[in-house]
Amino acid sequence: MFDVKPLTGAIGAEITGVDLNLPISDRVAKALRVALWRHLIIVFRDQFLDISAQKRLTEVFGEVMRLPYVEPTNDDPDVIAVLKEASEHNVGVFGGEWHSDFSFLERPPSGSVLNAVEVPDYGGDTLWANQASAYEALPADLRKIVEGRDAIHVGKPYGVKYAPPKESRAASSIRMTRGDPDADREIHHPAVIEHPHSGRKALFLNPIYTTRFDGMSDAESAPLLEAIYKHCIRPEFCCRLRWSPGAVAVWDNRMTLHYAVNDYDGVRRLLYRTTFVDVRH
Ligand SMILES: [Fe+2]
Repeated sequence: MFDVKPLTGAIGAEITGVDLNLPISDRVAKALRVALWRHLIIVFRDQFLDISAQKRLTEVFGEVMRLPYVEPTNDDPDVIAVLKEASEHNVGVFGGEWHSDFSFLERPPSGSVLNAVEVPDYGGDTLWANQASAYEALPADLRKIVEGRDAIHVGKPYGVKYAPPKESRAASSIRMTRGDPDADREIHHPAVIEHPHSGRKALFLNPIYTTRFDGMSDAESAPLLEAIYKHCIRPEFCCRLRWSPGAVAVWDNRMTLHYAVNDYDGVRRLLYRTTFVDVRH
């Protein structure tokens, strides 16, 4: 039907032999979901999708989700332009720390689709880390901490209480709503979650949005979270994607962390992003 070539031993696969500009049959859609749940990030090259084809692909994996706090493109409320202009220097880039997208929502996104339009010849890679592998290899003392425990997530970059200093803010091309008290609400999620389809367990903690463990203060949680994060992003759990124009990546936001590398000052980079929440297939 199509070929699936793993990128590493732990995470990621490149899929060839499918043209996502054409209608996607039920049979192919099902196989793509299975590939995503297994490899957690899948990439297709040379697709050059328009927005309607990107949304059709997104719907293979769930319902298209509109994100709060980030302004969509003018053309489509379901699409975010992930853009850094060539003229933007010394700014944090959107996603420039390991994270799971919007983990502070009551119902976080199940995954996202990134569609590369304009990318540097080199630089601007994205990394993903498999949090199921990280959980499975977690040392016993840390496992004891996370097992059966909730963690607290807060939309820090968007809220009032933790608003970042101006100089560390994300690229100005990404228009974000700041200072919303709603983003300061504490949301509980289990520190270990189970994938609804694969049944695989994974750590669900990240340094952007997780503030502490339930039943512990920020200060008590900090050294434990730090030790866990250090483990979570070990190279054995990671893959790194070098973008090319027309490349499309789909990832599972529950079982992975990702990181956007900001090493391409002076070059314009534009990707379109859509987001989805799971529906039972
Ligand atoms: Fe992200």
